[in-house]
This record gives sequence, structure tokens and C-alpha cells, in this order.
Amino acid sequence: MGSLRNHWNALSEKHAEVCDRSLLSLFDDPDRAATFTAQTGDMLFDYSKTNIDQDTLTALTALLDAAGVAQKRDAMFAGQAINDTEGRAVLHTALRNLDGGPVIVDGQDVIPGVRATLQRMRDYANVVRNSAITDVVNIGIGGSDLGPAMAVAALAPYHDGPRCHFVSNVDGAHVADTLRNLDAKTTLVIVASKTFTTIETMTNARTARAWMMDHGGDPSAQFAALSTADDLTADFGIPAERVFGFEDWVGGRYSMWGPIGLSLMIAIGPKAFDAFLRGGQAMDQHFQAAEWHENLPALLALVGIWHAQVCGYSSRAVLPYDQRLARLPDYFQQLEMESNGKSVQMGGASVEVDSGPIVWGAAGTNGQHAFYQLLHQGTRVVLCEFMVAAEGHEPELEHHHKLLIANCLAQSEALMRGRSLDEARARMEKAGFEGNELDRQARHRVFAGNRPSTTLIYPKLDPFTLGQIVALYEHRVFVEGVVLGINSFDQWGVELGKELATSLQPVIDGTASADGKDGSTAQLVEFVLRHRG
Ligand code: F6P
Repeated sequence: MGSLRNHWNALSEKHAEVCDRSLLSLFDDPDRAATFTAQTGDMLFDYSKTNIDQDTLTALTALLDAAGVAQKRDAMFAGQAINDTEGRAVLHTALRNLDGGPVIVDGQDVIPGVRATLQRMRDYANVVRNSAITDVVNIGIGGSDLGPAMAVAALAPYHDGPRCHFVSNVDGAHVADTLRNLDAKTTLVIVASKTFTTIETMTNARTARAWMMDHGGDPSAQFAALSTADDLTADFGIPAERVFGFEDWVGGRYSMWGPIGLSLMIAIGPKAFDAFLRGGQAMDQHFQAAEWHENLPALLALVGIWHAQVCGYSSRAVLPYDQRLARLPDYFQQLEMESNGKSVQMGGASVEVDSGPIVWGAAGTNGQHAFYQLLHQGTRVVLCEFMVAAEGHEPELEHHHKLLIANCLAQSEALMRGRSLDEARARMEKAGFEGNELDRQARHRVFAGNRPSTTLIYPKLDPFTLGQIVALYEHRVFVEGVVLGINSFDQWGVELGKELATSLQPVIDGTASADGKDGSTAQLVEFVLRHRG
């Protein structure tokens, strides 16, 4: 794909033209809310509280066409090796292709294998759910942890299996604090690692195995593995019947739909897990069929691109008004930042614009009492992505849910509307201030407003809806990556730190010297050695 420079220039010119106008004034058009909203099934995405107008949308969709997004999308679903720095297909969509046609990779239909593994997972999940197992510990990190950990919390109302715990950090505190209160005789440990070489996961897995042996459990019966590396799982001593494999065409951060989702399946049961897959599949079908201006993943991507690459707002906040989605910002952080935090395009040239944004966030309303101050009055503009369900799971606490929704809607309104100096002065006058003090007090109470936000709203957070949300964001990241011209499916940027950690390990052990290290690193090593005696 050639340079998109002309498209970027046109968008920059458009931005310069409209950047000072009031978002609120856009609603003088009575159709604005409906025009800048898209829906799939019962899920609605409202991006009308942004500065995007019809011209901008046209220019943005032209960018998708110029970047060849539709062709790339079709190539991905068809199993072509679009991860071209690693020479692999990208087929997490095959894991939720419950009733679609064949998908051919290297001349072979992968769907029968996917379905056979899914059936093995269902059978095993049922065995565990009907056994004496009380606790499941998933040991994994990154994509082998964040997805199932997020989803188990999100779907707590559907959780009728054993308790689930997630250990990821190599900090011994994590595994120790988790295992301390568990009964080794009734605990199942799932070692989740695509490569089965990740140092954090393998260190935690060995510690958990030793703990189980020391406390009367039987690792030969109470360990399962989720991995692409059969030989390594066998070396670890996990029998093949408890190894759930997947292929290298499933990227780590896209893997919760298959074996990496086993802890979720054990928690909520195979039927609810199927509903989760169906939600993902429904979003796949929507992404493949809908026109760009009605296509939720494409629109989320375009809203993202407009704010990050055109307006230059480098940060994006994910703000679910749902306590059970508290881990969703972490999950989206890996999805977006590990996928699109890159400065080199597929062909080796530098990325023409800023790379993917910084993604962060927290559940509302908690965030309101922590960082929303900056969102409303800080000097930086942050694109805020709200999400909320019309209905909660606690009918007896409906008044809580109504308050939650009111807060969510109020925040996006406040970000857009702001409060002028005149309005602030009027308030302060009423409060009895006058003269210079009135001016000073008023200035502190001004909200610039005009801050963009989007809202994703759906009836209820059930397994199907969660599947839709996760697939929606996966495809959004994909579209953004295609437009940036990068490979969203590799992660070379994590390698250097891993290599240096390996070389530093003997230095920290005191078995190798810090010679050759920079002064700062050597000084820190010396501090550690001195204080550890
Ligand atoms: O941090 C890099 C990474 O490779 C992630 O992409 C991945 O999700 C994580 O490590 C865990 O990898 P694995 O599943 O192979 O243990």
C-alpha cells in the first residue's frame, strides 16, 4: 500500500478548519445524534459528541479505502498470512466460527481441529465443574491472563463453577498470596502459555507445583496446560489429555476465545462460554458485512484515528460504568498498545503519523474521584470512551444502576458542554463573592468543555454482549493498524527488555559482574547486593 500522505494532509486541513468550533453547536442539527450513531443488534455506538462531521467522516472512510482495509479484513478472515513479520495467518476469528464454512491455512481446513478442541474443552470443563475441585488457578501473563481474568470478573453473575484465581506477576507475592488460602487437594492449576517458555509463567508454575506437592495435592492429576508447545508441556509432566493446544495463528492477546479461555469456561460453563463465542462471531459478521458508516469496528477505529493521529490527542481513556468491567481497561491496553505501539510499517518504512495511542482507564464512578479532574480541566485533551449497560444484574439495587447511568451520561455531557466564565461568575456572585476575588474564584470553576467522548451502550452485560465488545475492540485495533500500515500482530518491542533481564539475572544472583553496564544500572545492582547481604 502506498503513502496515505494526501489523505492525512486533507484530514489535517479539515481539523485546522473545525478545531475551534463548539461541539454543542453541532447539535443545532436535530439529526446529529442519530447520524453519528451506529448500531448492531442491540448495541449502540454514539460518537456524536465528537467534532466529526459528514465531510470528516467521508475523508476518514476514504482513508480506509486507500489503506485497503476491506481487502486486508477479507485476507485475515480467509487465513492468509497477514502477520508477515512472523509469516503467520491471524485467525482468532476461526475460534468463534461456530457454524461458518471452512478456513484454509496451508491447504488445510482448520475448522475441524478448532471444533474438536472446543469440544474437549467443554468435556473437561464439565468434568472439573462436577468434581471436588473448589478453586482454579490460571497461571499466565499478558494475553494468557488478561482476557480470562477480565472476563471471569465481568461475568460474575453467570459464575456457577469453582472459584477462579489469576497469577501473572513473577513477584513471588502474587503466587504466595493466591495459594496461601487454597486447599492443594481441591485446586486445579492451569498453566496458560502459548510458548510455554515465558519466564514469569514458568517460574510461577514450578512454584505452584512444589506447593501442591508439599500440601498433599497431586500435580500429575491437578495440572492442565494451554499451549502451542506440546513437547514443552510434556516435559513439564502434564499428560496430553489435559493439554489444550492451539496453533500459532492465534496471537496471545487475541487468544481468550480458545483454550486460553478454559478458566472462563470452567467458571461460567460451556453453554455460557458458547454464548460469549456467539457474541464474537456476531461482531465478525457485522464487521464483514456492514458499510463503513454503519460498521462499529470501522467507526471506532476512525474515531480513534481522528483523535490520535489527526487531532494529536495521544491518550485514550476506557471508562466502563460497570464495576465488573474494572479489568477491561487493562485488557484493552495490551490489545491496543502491544498491537499498534509501533513506528515501523510492514515494508520497513517509518510510520507516517503518530503510532497507536496510550490506552488507560478505570471503572466509573471510581475514576470520577481520581483522575476526571484532569479530563475536565487539564491542559491535555483525552478521548473518553464510555460504556454502560441499560440494566444491571441486581434488580433489588436498581437505584444504584440508575445513579450509575446518570453519572456516565453526565460525564460525557459535562466534557462537551463545559462551563463558561460568565456561568462560573454568576455562581460565584450568588455565593457572595465580589470584585477581584469573584474573578479569581470564577476562573477556577471554568470548564473549557468541547472535550470529545463516545458512548457504547447495550442492554445488559451478558456473555454474548461481552463477546461482542471484545471482538469489536479487536477489529477496531486491526483497522487502525491497517491504516497505520503496521503489523498489529507481532510484538518485537517486548524482546529487548526480556533479553536484558535474562542477562541481569546472574548479576543480581551475584554470580556475574555488572561490568559493562551503564553507571545507573551498576549503581542499582550494587544497592541491591549490598542490602541483600
Ligand atoms: O509480552 C509478550 C507476550 O508474548 C505477549 O504477547 C503474550 O500475551 C505474553 O507475552 C505471554 O506469552 P505466552 O502465552 O507465550 O506465555
